[in-house]
Amino acid sequence: MATDEVRRRPKKKFSLLLSPITLPPPHHPQNQRSYYMKYLLLLVIMALFLTYHFSPQAIRNAKKRNVHHKFDKPNVIQATYTEEEDALDYSNDENIESHYDTAVAAAASNMSRPFQYIGDIDPASPRPWPKQEADWWSLHQTLVDRVKESESFSIKKRHDDDDSLLPQLIFYGDSITEGWNGTSFGNIPGPTRMWGEDEPSKIRKVFEKHFGSSSVWGQRAILPPLILGISGSRTCDFIWRIENGEFPKSTVLSEHKSQKLQRIYIVLMGTNNLGGGMLPDATISGMDASGRKILELHQQQCPTAPAAIVFSELLPRKDDHRAVKMCPPRCANVTALEPFQSFMPAIQKVNEALPGVLRGWKEDYPDSKIVLLSSQSEDDANGVDSDNIPIIQCGQDMFAFDSEEEFDAHMPDRLHPNAKGYDVWARCIKRGLEEVMDHTINLL
Ligand SMILES: *[C@@H]1O[C@H](CO)[C@@H](O)[C@H](O)[C@H]1NC(C)=O
Ligand SMILES: *[C@@H]1O[C@H](CO)[C@@H](O)[C@H](O)[C@H]1NC(C)=O
Ligand SMILES: *[C@@H]1O[C@H](CO)[C@@H](O)[C@H](O)[C@H]1NC(C)=O
Repeated sequence: MATDEVRRRPKKKFSLLLSPITLPPPHHPQNQRSYYMKYLLLLVIMALFLTYHFSPQAIRNAKKRNVHHKFDKPNVIQATYTEEEDALDYSNDENIESHYDTAVAAAASNMSRPFQYIGDIDPASPRPWPKQEADWWSLHQTLVDRVKESESFSIKKRHDDDDSLLPQLIFYGDSITEGWNGTSFGNIPGPTRMWGEDEPSKIRKVFEKHFGSSSVWGQRAILPPLILGISGSRTCDFIWRIENGEFPKSTVLSEHKSQKLQRIYIVLMGTNNLGGGMLPDATISGMDASGRKILELHQQQCPTAPAAIVFSELLPRKDDHRAVKMCPPRCANVTALEPFQSFMPAIQKVNEALPGVLRGWKEDYPDSKIVLLSSQSEDDANGVDSDNIPIIQCGQDMFAFDSEEEFDAHMPDRLHPNAKGYDVWARCIKRGLEEVMDHTINLL
């Protein structure tokens, strides 16, 4: 894999904004010459400024540096992770809790990065990130190019009659999905991700093992998989992304095979809606709109091929310091400025609503295959939803660990999996794929 293509994210911020300049009008004729001199000087300075800032080099630098929406990233400061804390007894849950609640929360609330409140925006109406978010825009463009490139692959024509061909896998989502390729905004994530030095390459190997060209799936797939994730993505910008190039436009198979399943969309979307202070109900409607947009676009592009979605519940997130930081404006009690202590109640509420949401999709797109991946464990009731939305109960394969220690071993920053985490989650996704294929393939 091309590790040299990913760069360490530079820390410095960079601004192209000029402060406003006002000049007094010349009142006296004797001042006029000095007024024009000043004016000329100003023009020269501005010309130099513009020449520098719009030179190709400066534009490249600015592109590298411009990411202001760093809210999705864990605010866990390295400095709080001292040797002393390393030596904590991690078998004692209380120690872990106090470690996170005090040191990390204190450091996090001290961070320069502002909390980006999105609670008042419409979760379902398409909305890209601001233009100055150069890393977001450049990754979006990269993903658009990858979609185009994928579409231009000559399909394994010799296999076109081969009924054992499997659909292309398309992974849609935010930083958790982007992480499958070891990056965040196209770069190696900073230290707050708490990944080991070689984690990105380990994760790529995990991906390759489960879904890559040498995997059981990959060997028979029509086309190589696509990872279409961008850090920080929320439902509204996700919808914009797929309306603007991150959705394949072509059918994969030749006409006489066009009724076959061609692509499977593996989706995790909504985590950052909650993270931006959006309430569960709005988050649910954003997730609903995201799934429906995929189904709608699929129907437009491949009218005869059924759609297939493996939809992931929100993964548990235990980065409690961020929930605390949302207050104000988003508080448990806004009068008393009492913050929320955890994202988990909101996540639970969203996840409980999902079977009903997916049932709605199935009603409107009856030919589609829709599967829900859930962190319920096998012994929880209602394995198959009454109206036939299959629910895959992944339990620990979806991070439902009772022990904090186990959880942290798979999600070191309490929000994003590491290689070990992706490896277990892949099992859950593969069970979803088996279900989509009506158990005609054995992936585990
Ligand atoms: C918060 O910031 C101040 C000033 O930069 C620093 O002195 C202090 O140690 C920081 N506190 C934490 C908990 O990081
Ligand atoms: C992962 O990123 C590399 C570039 O670093 C790219 O070539 C590759 O296509 C990506 N993999 C997937 C599955 O999208
Ligand atoms: C919120 O805090 C205020 C002030 O402390 C208190 O009077 C009120 O009862 C609290 N509301 C709830 C719902 O707990």
